[in-house]
Amino acid sequence: MNPTQTHPAPPRPMHMLLLTLMLGVSLPALAANQAPPIPPQVDTSSLPAIGKAWDASNPLRGNAAALDIGRSAYNQSCARCHGPDADGSRAPAPDLRRIGRSCNRVADAALKQRCTEDADYYFRQSVLKGKIKLGIEHMPAWEGVLDPQVLWSIRSYVETAGKR
Ligand code: HEC
Repeated sequence: MNPTQTHPAPPRPMHMLLLTLMLGVSLPALAANQAPPIPPQVDTSSLPAIGKAWDASNPLRGNAAALDIGRSAYNQSCARCHGPDADGSRAPAPDLRRIGRSCNRVADAALKQRCTEDADYYFRQSVLKGKIKLGIEHMPAWEGVLDPQVLWSIRSYVETAGKR
């Protein structure tokens, strides 16, 4: 007998999704284990303590040590999808440098601050919650993997990448 007839092809993602929907199985279960987050190994002892609470905007913006820590953490954990050195090229995932970039064109100081806070909030939430749509995990959630010092260091690095 032809062995391909006894062993059906493994289910493809869309088939799995439809099957999951039909069975009513929780969607996060399908998304699990697709791309487990890789925790970065970085030494944050040179950074000021931030505490557990999240600030409205990046408290490490402008901190020189954070840029180096952020570059290392980024290349360990994010580059495989967002591209090496955050240069935005050859990457399947979005160019992270452009998040909040338009705030630089805002002349009014208070408005500019608000714009930056919004961009930081969007960045933080995207990273912590991940990107899971219709049960497909586009990016894993980083909550519990990245502490505030590391996440904000990555943010600091990414927004200055290409400018140094
Ligand atoms: C497994 C691949 C993968 C890894 C690893 C990954 N991302 Fe993503 N990320 C994506 C994809 C794909 C999207 C776009 C998802 C969508 O909106 O459909 C995304 C979206 C984002 C967004 C929102 C971008 C926007 O323009 O809306 C941010 C911010 C982000 N990622 C940050 C990070 C950071 C920081 C890391 C490392 C700690 C990281 N990502 C690691 C795949 C990944």
